[in-house]
Amino acid sequence: MATRRRFLSDSAWSAAALTLAPLVACSQEPPPAVPAPPPAEPKAAAAPATAGALIMRTIPSSGEQIPAIGVGTSGSYEVPMDSPEFAALKDVLKVFFAGGGRAIDTSPNYSNAEDVVGALLKEGGWRQQCFLATKLAADDRDALERQWADSMRRLQTDTVELLQVHNLRNIGQALPYARELKQAGKTKYIGLTHYVESGHADLARLMRAEKPDWVQINYSVAAPQAAKTIFPIAQELGIAVMVNRAFDDGKLFSVAGDRPLPDWAAEMQVTSWAQMFLRFVLSHPAVTVVIPATGKPERQADNLKGGAGPLLSQAQQDELVKMFA
Ligand SMILES: NC(=O)c1ccc[n+]([C@@H]2O[C@H](COP(=O)([O-])OP(=O)(O)OC[C@H]3O[C@@H](n4cnc5c(N)ncnc54)[C@H](OP(=O)(O)O)[C@@H]3O)[C@@H](O)[C@H]2O)c1
Repeated sequence: MATRRRFLSDSAWSAAALTLAPLVACSQEPPPAVPAPPPAEPKAAAAPATAGALIMRTIPSSGEQIPAIGVGTSGSYEVPMDSPEFAALKDVLKVFFAGGGRAIDTSPNYSNAEDVVGALLKEGGWRQQCFLATKLAADDRDALERQWADSMRRLQTDTVELLQVHNLRNIGQALPYARELKQAGKTKYIGLTHYVESGHADLARLMRAEKPDWVQINYSVAAPQAAKTIFPIAQELGIAVMVNRAFDDGKLFSVAGDRPLPDWAAEMQVTSWAQMFLRFVLSHPAVTVVIPATGKPERQADNLKGGAGPLLSQAQQDELVKMFA
């Protein structure tokens, strides 16, 4: 039903997101020293106009392009259906998709988040443009099969774009099952996830042994270890990287407090700490997508801006790490 709230949010938040479009030309690397070649002929089925604002990255195993700002659903999407928080999430995803975003990461382990994501995608008609990622997290084959069937029902879909083994749980059974589902066309990509530094060594070993399409790992100004432990292997083997906990679960905002942004922030088109933390993550060339989670539309608009603008130099990245160490 077209409620007043929905009408207002349609216009206000879509406008907020659309203002992102002219911010900057999309780029993956710092500007080249030589003149760029002439632009290619436009294709018949062009990408949505608003996607031009966001930094785009390439998924190495397929060459597919994907906008570098995605959405996480832990906590922020674990809300009762028909609650004010659920209504706010409709506006969050309106901002996200209108601003050119595509990737949403969820898990059967995030209480009812898959139900919430499924309902929102259906209501907004966004499933086609969404790069949907979920996970396997169960301890035997029967449980894995039941969990996958439940995920499809809850997400209101038949396929996902990415199926990840959550925190490497039951990897011996979960990864072969994920491969079977890929073979059957149920998922385009398979991946492995972890979220703390103590998991990096196991993840690194499995990257070499199993060569998944994607890995998901924690990386932030306060936890930059993945740049040494995971990213070089991903670059060497051609594995896409999804970054979780870019805000250290939100703790980075308390640490930043009232601290002013570095004096070079405006030059980098950064106007908030959220944008700075995300731009830091995207400034590493191994990173494919970062998935900050929020239940608030204005924060979603802020997070998208983190993915539109110049990349930080190594000196600027080092300065941030020193500041938040
Ligand atoms: N093992 C795994 O596979 C694994 C582990 C951890 C995370 N993940 C994935 O990664 C995603 C991201 O990680 P995360 O949710 O743990 O932490 P995060 O993205 O680092 O931080 C989320 C917190 O930041 C706040 N926030 C978001 N945008 C903000 C903004 N612009 N300004 C101020 N505050 C803001 C959110 O609060 P509000 O909601 O109130 O805005 C929330 O409390 C998860 O949602 C999940 O999808 C996967």
